[in-house]
Amino acid sequence: MSPPPGPRGPAPRAAVAVVHAAAMAEPDACEGDPALVQRRGHLTEDDPPAPLQTYGRTKLEAERVALAECPSAAVARIALVVGAGHGRRGTATEAIAWALREGRRLRLYTDQHRTPVDPDSLADAVARLLERALSGLVHLGGRERVSRYELGRRVADVLGLDARLLEPVNTGDHAPGAPRPADVSLDSTRAHRELGWEPLSLNEAIRRGRQSQSTSS
Ligand SMILES: NC(=O)c1ccc[n+]([C@@H]2O[C@H](COP(=O)([O-])OP(=O)(O)OC[C@H]3O[C@@H](n4cnc5c(N)ncnc54)[C@H](OP(=O)(O)O)[C@@H]3O)[C@@H](O)[C@H]2O)c1
Repeated sequence: MSPPPGPRGPAPRAAVAVVHAAAMAEPDACEGDPALVQRRGHLTEDDPPAPLQTYGRTKLEAERVALAECPSAAVARIALVVGAGHGRRGTATEAIAWALREGRRLRLYTDQHRTPVDPDSLADAVARLLERALSGLVHLGGRERVSRYELGRRVADVLGLDARLLEPVNTGDHAPGAPRPADVSLDSTRAHRELGWEPLSLNEAIRRGRQSQSTSS
């Protein structure tokens, strides 16, 4: 693996707050040595992290460095992002919808579970974090825990697309790329209680997704 690029752009001099979201955000692109481990879900901020991949390990290291350097910082751990994306890459549900609209078949895992969350709700949570000056770890996940296959079915249902193009698979049968943890559903009780945060429902997030890749960026 080639060394990661250094930070780009000027360093802030007298910032009131810094929201750091940059990352090499493609787990496959970060990977060196895959090894699959099962994890239980509904993870709280107090559960010991056990990252499987280079992506997760570097994320954990970054949050430890941030909190050591700045104990008043808040570290938001974000679940799988769905709904309306803002960049070239589609969110998880946009990618599914775009494939189904093009008539492409998709293989989706029945044994990998997530608590998907949308960018509008995440932006709202970050604003609340800044306003209330909460510090430490904060989990930001959606209300529903679904498998990747269930997520695909939901996209098809909500958007009226052809669910017959979705093929349910198990991780053991089909696992290209970097290993993905089986269950990283997040318990976001702290954000609900201490920020008064309520994410959009999964259905509403799916509805807000962009229609096609060509309308992005
Ligand atoms: N997508 C998800 O489901 C998900 C889930 C949980 C957490 N996250 C986290 O959310 C954040 C945003 O991810 P995303 O999905 O929106 O990915 P993305 O669209 O690839 O955005 C990543 C951003 O980081 C920038 N970046 C990468 N390396 C950099 C460097 N060395 N210096 C400065 N900027 C750099 C990229 O800039 P360029 O475009 O110029 O390369 C890009 O704007 C990341 O921290 C990611 O780990 C994402």
